[in-house]
This record gives sequence, C-alpha cells and structure tokens, in this order.
Amino acid sequence: MSSHQHAAKIPYKIFSNSSLASAFVAKEMVDLIKEKEKQKKPCVLGLATGSTPTGVYSELVRLHKAGKVSFKNVHTFNLDEYYPMNPQSLQSYVRYMNENLFNHIDIPKKNIHIPDGTLKANQIEKFCQAYESSIQKLGGLDLQILGIGRTGHIGFNEPGSNEKTSTRVVSLDQVTRIDASGDFFGEENVPKKAITMGVGTILKAKRIIMMAWGEGKSGIIRKALEGPVSDQIPSSFLQNHSNTLTVLDDASASKLTAVYTPWLVDGCTWTDKLRRRAVVWLCQKTGKPILKLTNQDYMENGMSDLVTEFGSAYKVNIRVFNELQHTITGWPGGKPNADDSHRPERAKPFPKRVIIFSPHPDDDVISMGGTFIRLVDQGHEVHVAYQTSGNIAVFDDDAIRFADFVRDFNNAFGLTKADAERFFKKVTRDIREKKPGAVDSAEVMAIKGLIRRGEAKAGCRYVGIPDSQAHFLDMPFYETGAVKKKPLGDKDINIIADLIEKVKPHQIYAAGDLSDPHGTHRVCLSAIFQAVQRLKNKPFMKQCYLWLYRGAWQEWDIDEIEMAVPLSPEELMRKRRAIFKHQSQKDSAVFPGSDKREFWQRAEDRNHATANEYNKLGLAEYEAMEAFVRYHF
Ligand code: F6R
Repeated sequence: MSSHQHAAKIPYKIFSNSSLASAFVAKEMVDLIKEKEKQKKPCVLGLATGSTPTGVYSELVRLHKAGKVSFKNVHTFNLDEYYPMNPQSLQSYVRYMNENLFNHIDIPKKNIHIPDGTLKANQIEKFCQAYESSIQKLGGLDLQILGIGRTGHIGFNEPGSNEKTSTRVVSLDQVTRIDASGDFFGEENVPKKAITMGVGTILKAKRIIMMAWGEGKSGIIRKALEGPVSDQIPSSFLQNHSNTLTVLDDASASKLTAVYTPWLVDGCTWTDKLRRRAVVWLCQKTGKPILKLTNQDYMENGMSDLVTEFGSAYKVNIRVFNELQHTITGWPGGKPNADDSHRPERAKPFPKRVIIFSPHPDDDVISMGGTFIRLVDQGHEVHVAYQTSGNIAVFDDDAIRFADFVRDFNNAFGLTKADAERFFKKVTRDIREKKPGAVDSAEVMAIKGLIRRGEAKAGCRYVGIPDSQAHFLDMPFYETGAVKKKPLGDKDINIIADLIEKVKPHQIYAAGDLSDPHGTHRVCLSAIFQAVQRLKNKPFMKQCYLWLYRGAWQEWDIDEIEMAVPLSPEELMRKRRAIFKHQSQKDSAVFPGSDKREFWQRAEDRNHATANEYNKLGLAEYEAMEAFVRYHF
C-alpha cells in the first residue's frame, strides 16, 4: 500500500494486479458475512455488475465451494439494471448475477434483489420506493461494492446526479452507451435508460469499497479521488463518506499524484525511470526542451535533490537527453555490423526471425505498420499471428455481400445451384431474424471471420510477406455466446506457445494494451505472457526480446518509450495503404469506440504526436514515430 496519499481525498490501496485486489475485497466481504452471522443479524450487501467485480465473485464462489462461507444469512441489493431489459437476455444484470455468483452459492432466492427491467413505465416509481424501503427494513446496506464508469458514474448515476438522489430511472450517458456497445453488438442496441440506486442510497451504506482495474480507468480515478466534489463526477461524492476505501491495481492507480509525480507529494527515491519521467514532465510543464532546463526549474518543482545528486541541472539534462536519443532507431531488428551498445536492439543475429502478435486482424498494421514494413524491407523473416477472428466487428450487410459472392462464385464454377441458393438464403434469413444484441449464427460468424482473414492476408501481401507467414490462431476464448466471456484456457495458451516454439523468434511484438474497451487485447496479452513464462527456460528464448506496442486506443508516455522507430512521409503513406486493406473496418467501423476518427487517422495522428513530443524535447524532428516498450520476462 502506498504511504503517500496526501493528494487523494478517499483512502486507497494499490495491488500489483486485479486478482490480488479482488481476493482482498472478497476476503473483507467474507469476514463481514461471518461477523454478522455471529451477531445473529442479517448481512446486507450492495452488489455491482460490469467487468470489474467478476474476480471478486469468482473468489466468493471459490471460498463457498471450499466450505469457507455460507450465504444463507446474506441479503443482496444490486445497484442497477438496464431499462427495458428482459432478465433472460445476454446483457441482463439478472443473468449476469446468476451466472457469475448466485447459481454457485447457497443464498436463498428470496434474499436477492435486483432492479426489475420488465416493469411498465408507470410501475417504476413505486418499485423504486419499495426498493429503498426494503434496504432500510433490513437495517441498511452493511457494505456496498462499486465499479466506476469512465464518466465517473457509480451505479448508473451519470454526471448531473447529486448526493441526494435515490433509486430511480435514469438516462444513460453517451460515453457509457459506447462502452457498453461491445456487449450489445453495436451502440444502437444499448438501452437508453436504466434503473439505478441513487448516489444518496449508496452514501447511506455503512462501508463502501470502490474498485477499478486497468489504465483506462486511471484518469477518472484521479478525478474522483483528488478532484473537487461535484455532481459532474458522481463518484467524487464518496469523498464525503467516512468509511470508503478505493481498491486499485497498479494500472488504474497510475495517474494518482502520489504515483505519477511522487516528487510533488513527498521526498521520493529516484530511479532511472522516475528521473526520466520527471524531466519529461518538467519540459511539458515549462514548455522548454530538455537542454534548456535550469537549476531554478528543478528547484521550483520539487526536484532539487536531482540537481544535488548530479551536481547541476546541465548534467541531469544531458543524461536524460542521451537516454532519449538512444531510444530512436530506424533499425527495429537491429543494425547489422554496427556498434549496438547504445541501440535498443542487438545487431546480431541478422537477419532475425520475428513474430508480430496482432489481437485483431488489423492491429499489426494500425499500431506498428511502419515498423512491420521496415522489418520486412531490412530482410528479417517476419511472421504475423492474428490471435482472434475479429468476427464480431463486421457489419451484417458486408456478410450478405460476401454470401452473395459465394453464391455467384459457386454458380459460376459448378457447385449445385440449389446448394448455393440454400446457403445464401440461410445467411440472409439468419441476419434478418437476428434480434438486436443477439449472437450471429455459425455460418454468419464464419463469413465475418473470413472477411477479416482475407483483409489481413491482403495487408501482409502488401507489406511483402508470403501467406505461409500469416498465422490465424482463432483463439477459442474469443468465440463465445454467453455473458460470461470464456476465461483464457490452456488451449489458448498452447496455441501461442506452439507457434513460438515453431518459429523460435528473436523478437516478439505484442499489443501491450491494458485498456482495450472490450478486454480482448488484455486477454491476448495475458496469453502471450503465460506462454512466454512457460517457454522461458528453453535455450532459444534466452535470445528473444519481447516488445510491446500500443493498440488503437492510446500511446505509451514519452518517458516510458524504449524504442522509437521514425517513419518518413513515404513510409507513413505505405502504412496507410496497408491499413486500407482492412475494408470492413473502414468508412466507419462497427466498434469505433468514443473516437470518431477512422483507424488510419488515429494511427497517423498518434505517430505524428509521438514525433512531435520528441521534437519538443529538443530531439530530431521526424514526420512520425512508432513506439515500443520492452518487457523483461
Ligand atoms: C454496474 C454499475 C456500473 C459499473 C461501471 C463500471 O452495476 O453500476 O457503475 O460498475 O460502469 O463498469 P465496468 O466494471 O464494466 O468497467
């Protein structure tokens, strides 16, 4: 746990990962359940849904199955439910709670309360009042657990909800609907309303634990904990509650003042990394390039001990300037016959065998297309491994277009006309009859997957690698029709490990994204980490470097970058053309996220921005740059 919490107005605990954090929360819940049992009083829990608490629920199920806890004495009140919502549907919080928790424990059914998404509009108000009074009758909530939305919402109390609000029907914020669009197979299927406990209902709980995982939550966590209390960030009202704890993983805590800029809060222990971050931060704050920072700049910004340690601002400046200079290389696979003592990659062996892991079929070119092109041009043996089919992100009319193509193709080349006709009819009927938010039929999913596969192959051909070096892994965890995503299994990890063993790469590139809104990048990365852990003692792995790139959502902070690959205007244009091969993701994608730009535009803006940051720090001025961080295993 961090000791510097001065800037934060809600206490917090940080864990190195969300599994440890979830186990901590589950333990507190179990302790409370047992304590209440001893007191012969009911234990009243407020529960949340979404991706955050799933680890807590699986730990509670594990503890129950191990005979460590009974839920006979527990009463639960869920925060919210979409409105309208059928409890059977994939996205229903009733179904979520059953699948994640209630079906696996011994809680009496009558003790479970979840807002009812099937009510008629004129029944809602009465239902909400009854919900509040049921909580009160049981003596109030003993413990409420919470996730936090990117809008800062708790429950579905969106910006504008004040501390007096009680259980009621609300309209969902646009950002929240975009975040939910993955679960509903498209934003247009996300309900516009929800029934939620109010901020006031939540604040009445005797104890509150708010949880957040992943860097996607780091910005809003900082605002909720350190910013002013305001109805624009409803979670900030927790600052007024006397018994709230925020439980975070390293990534979600990364923007808190005490973590991000510890020199502003307290004396800190300087490491190479922290020094680099502080100097970059100081440049951004003062608007100066590194070599123009003065003793006074350091003194005025809590960094005087750095100057003392080095003797002068000039010496700190030179040190950090050189470190950053050495991250830049036009030779991502290493420069043959060159002194590599200050280069991010080794000169030997040359050429190298390389695997680029791409979670979806276009992340390779979007996120590191320029580096991919350089690696191929510079003579390395580059393989690309597409980890998932990406089939949910294809529009229905594209699937019909290709089914039509197959029909015409079969007719032209001899498959029976009747078969071709039947296939086309089935596909069009499946799509026509699909309910909003429902899963596609096997045939439709296959077509959508093949569309993306064809695009990825076209991209590889354009960059210049043969089909035999494009590997389509179709990891099984991705192909699911249930609320509960399939957990990463041995099969998934074996698929990755087998390919690594086969290719015996000198370099692996992987998407180091922890804030993918769908979580797919996060799972894909975890599979690679686990495969690499398994293989790490094999002799060929001793020679292997693992480089992490960022997906479509963001870039590494400048101070974190360990390899920056510059792109000329021509190279940037080639990268753009490679991205254009992914036609199903172009001219508006199924899952654009909150960003309305096309993927190629996002990639270019980001690569220009990285180059610009280096330039502002006083390093050479390039057109664009792709950035990587090395992962040591
Ligand atoms: C869920 C709820 C929401 C979520 C929040 C975070 O019952 O009330 O406030 O906790 O939207 O969602 P995830 O955990 O999916 O990031």
